[in-house]
Amino acid sequence: MAEPVSLRSRMAPLVGEALEALQGSTIESVTERSEPFRVPASRYIDPDFADAEMQAVWPRAWQVACSVDHVARPGDFFEYTVGRLSVLIVRGQDGELRAFQNACLHRGNELCNGSGSGLTELRCRFHRWSWTLEGQLREVPSRRGFGVIRSEDYELPAVAVDTWGRLVWVNLDADAMPLDDYLDEMPAEVAWADLDDFRCTALLTTEMQCNWKTLIDGFSETYHVQGIHPEMLPMVDDVNSPQAVWQHVGRLRQPYGVPSPRLRDPSAQLQWDAFVAVMGGRMGLSDPTESGAPPDVPDGSTLRDVLAERIRRHSAAVKGVSLDRFSTEQLMTLLQYNVFPNVTILVFGDLLQVVKARPGDRPDRCYMDIVVFERAEPGARASTPATVQLAKGEADLGLVLNQDVDNIEKAQRGLYQPGFTHLSLSGEECRIANLHRNLDRYLASWDGTAD
Ligand code: FES
Ligand SMILES: [Fe+2]
Repeated sequence: MAEPVSLRSRMAPLVGEALEALQGSTIESVTERSEPFRVPASRYIDPDFADAEMQAVWPRAWQVACSVDHVARPGDFFEYTVGRLSVLIVRGQDGELRAFQNACLHRGNELCNGSGSGLTELRCRFHRWSWTLEGQLREVPSRRGFGVIRSEDYELPAVAVDTWGRLVWVNLDADAMPLDDYLDEMPAEVAWADLDDFRCTALLTTEMQCNWKTLIDGFSETYHVQGIHPEMLPMVDDVNSPQAVWQHVGRLRQPYGVPSPRLRDPSAQLQWDAFVAVMGGRMGLSDPTESGAPPDVPDGSTLRDVLAERIRRHSAAVKGVSLDRFSTEQLMTLLQYNVFPNVTILVFGDLLQVVKARPGDRPDRCYMDIVVFERAEPGARASTPATVQLAKGEADLGLVLNQDVDNIEKAQRGLYQPGFTHLSLSGEECRIANLHRNLDRYLASWDGTAD
């Protein structure tokens, strides 16, 4: 029988220098590999490893809590939970966004749950201590019974909060680096897309029977398109898709409206039908059985140009939103960012979608959050997003996401087989390798003492 492996050795750097060298890579260099990145399967199934993540990663990494639309007005609040941690995000009467650890300073009861609006104070239900939305102690019933309580000693513990890309980010670490630095090159690279103009329409949450990393790994590579999304092959170049890896962020740039080189000369009809089936809604074609004949492509244009123009026309006619400033490239190339630890952000000029994975109460459970946005004209009023809990199997997330979800439990169960000890990653899966490189960094810099 094999020797038990200590937690410390399981957390040892995986392939050390190779992973360290990953940062600053482009796909050209990471594909030239002499051997796979090998990641221990235990990282996805071991309760001790999940506990280590719970202490070393989640209280120290920037995370997307909600959209700006969830907390746009004074008195709006949103409770963000990750494992045992709970953070309250509150818009104060002064218009400032603040975040607090969700614990009453009397005996620790959670102060507030869920999300909503119209809050005028944070009042604990247990014995009714209350705080202002700015975190100042306001009232202690029967205060004299405690002796002296100095209000300045009882301010709610603040959590770092910032916004970027119409998203609210929080970090429980008092020494956290600024969000701007954490996000590496992403804000500058995608500044052209004016992400602040999007408005959130819905936050969908569903529980999944897999590790949070199994889920987010599926949004960190497109090597699996040929496997579980073969319908996409006539409309996406899944091979010539440059990637970059910075510190916390990795990025894919993937052309849509062109066929995969894995196919041999797909017909114009096949390319058109595939685009309509996968994302016809962007052009107002939601029924793939009625795609019709492929559009004419004028001389000097490409199918991408024609698709981009249809997307512009649909947006202007139906949504009243002009996309004229966006080029074919900006409308027809997917930018997919992966932000450590658990967020992926998908951007086309007309589209923003965020998917995140939060750990569940055991290593093979997690929550998938999908944050859905619609582009609006600059300066549009904040929206009121729907918050929806979807039961397992109830979620119809569209062709491609449904296929991802359908495979996910199989991807997790195989990890438990005793003969499967390591995942082997190619350079094409460098954003998954970067997740593990960052896990190593966070685990190595955590001293193991709760503070
Ligand atoms: S625990 Fe909140 S008032 Fe007692
Ligand atoms: Fe997928």
